[in-house]
Parts: sequence; structure tokens; C-alpha cells
Amino acid sequence: MDIIMWHKVLSPYVMAVDELILKFDSLRREFQEQGQYCPIEHVTGRVKSISSILDKMAKKNIPPEKMEEQIEDIAGIRIICQFTEDINRVASLITSRTDIELVEIKDYIRNQKQSGYRSYHMVVHYEVNTINGPKKILVEIQIRTMAMDFWATTEHSLQYKYKGQIPERVGSRLSNAADAIISLDSEMSSVRDEIMDAQLSSKLRYNLVEDIVNTIESLYRMTSKREVEKIQEEFYRIYQSGDVEELVRYHHQLDLIAQAYHAQKNRVDEGIKISEE
Ligand code: GTP
Ligand code: MG
Repeated sequence: MDIIMWHKVLSPYVMAVDELILKFDSLRREFQEQGQYCPIEHVTGRVKSISSILDKMAKKNIPPEKMEEQIEDIAGIRIICQFTEDINRVASLITSRTDIELVEIKDYIRNQKQSGYRSYHMVVHYEVNTINGPKKILVEIQIRTMAMDFWATTEHSLQYKYKGQIPERVGSRLSNAADAIISLDSEMSSVRDEIMDAQLSSKLRYNLVEDIVNTIESLYRMTSKREVEKIQEEFYRIYQSGDVEELVRYHHQLDLIAQAYHAQKNRVDEGIKISEE
């Protein structure tokens, strides 16, 4: 039997997990920067431990040479969403990518597992470029809501505790909990628009304040302290009033003031340059 050089074999999987987490985090940032609602709450990933791989090979009778072909979750990515609706959006984002090739979908949301498990799985091909050249590997992407994740994590710990033989009384509680998760997700979906609005407006306020403070700081370098003090007092007054629309107007006004100062400063700088020549 060939010796498996575990760390060498697993290295591309480590690469894939690192790259994909970075890529999904970049998507999150892009949504935020464009002031759009982000369907991804957070992303995690892991490479399956050698002991889990060995367990799975034994359980499913997988020979070592078939390991990479038949174990789909050596590299695993988990994408957590706030709402059930977000799962479809994330799935289409993934399908439309050119660096990810869909192999198989396992929709355990439409087809809930006997255990009560719900989650949307995409098995994909992803290519990494290693020092030995390109290598295409399988990655399992699990997409689920925070509530589904809560259930799955808890159930997984219990499976571990009872070594896969969860007693009936615990199992029926888990089954009740799975039903409760379904109604929780559907309740959350019914207020989705309102939650999304609230989150976007809090993000808008955050961005406005960041922008205004930056502008005030740049004005401080160009004009008198008294002037900037007045501007800052006005900013605090509007901010305390909690009126976001007024904050938007103020932000715009401040931009115009800053542009005027910049233009003035440029003219002065130009003047200095000309007189030096
Ligand atoms: P394994 O379940 O991983 O042995 O492989 P499989 O070929 O049966 O794939 P399946 O799609 O059933 O499961 C893939 C992954 O989904 C698992 O590794 C778990 O992370 C997760 N999963 C599937 N079923 C359950 C479940 O009943 N409870 C929990 N907590 N997770 C599950
Ligand atoms: Mg399974």
C-alpha cells in the first residue's frame, strides 16, 4: 500500500479553504461598500481532520486511492445567512462564479433529513494553484440560516456525546426543536424587509458619520480652528437630533464647503508655484 503523505495531500485543501473564505469575505465587503444588503452573515471553513477522514473511509469502505474522489467534504465552507431567502441568493452568486464549478446540489431544506437537519449543500470543483501546478479539488459548501446552524451544531454535539445513538427522549426534543427552528425562520422572514431597512439605515448613518468626521479633519488642516469648531458643533447638534435626512443634507453641504476650500487652496498653491518659477 502506498504511503499517504497526509500533509502534502491536504495542503491544496487548506489553500482552497483559505482562498474561498477570503473570496466570500470580499463579497461581503463589496455589498457593504455599495450600501447594499448582504445575504452573507458570516463565513467559516475547515479542512477535515485526518482522524475524521480515516473514520469516514472506514465507515464507507473507501480505499485510499479513492479518498479525494469520494470524500466530498475534505474542504468545507459554511456560509451563514440571516434569512432563508438569502440562501437562494448566495446559491445563485456561487453558481454564477467562473472560479467555482457546480458538481452537485443537496437541498436538505426542501428535503429535510430524518434527523431534522436542514441546510443547502453545494458540492463544487475549485482549482488551486500549488507549487506542483494547478489542482482541481472537491469542496462542500453548506449554506444555512443562523437558526439552522444553531440546531445543527447542537445536534452534532449530541451525536458526538451519544456516539451516534441519540436516545429517544433526546431525539424527540431535537425533533421539536427542529420544528421550532422552521417557525422561527419563517417568523424572521415575515419581518425581513423591516430588519433589512433598519440594518441599512444604521449602516448609512455609520458611513455618513465616518465621512463627515473625515471632512472635518481635512478642513481643520485648511481653515481656522474657530471655523472648524462651529462646523463640528453643528454636526453634533444634528447628530443628537437623530434626524438622518438632515444628516444627509449636512453631509452634502459640508462636502461643498470642503470643495470650495480645496479649490481655494489649489489656487493659492498654484500662485506660489508661479511666483517661484
Ligand atoms: P457524511 O454525512 O458527511 O458522512 O456524508 P454524506 O455523504 O452522508 O453527506 P451528507 O450530505 O449526508 O452530509 C454532509 C454533511 O452535512 C455532514 O458532514 C454534516 O456536516 C452535515 N450533516 C448531514 N446530516 C446531518 C445531521 O443529521 N446532523 C448534523 N448536525 N449535520 C448533518
Ligand atoms: Mg451523512
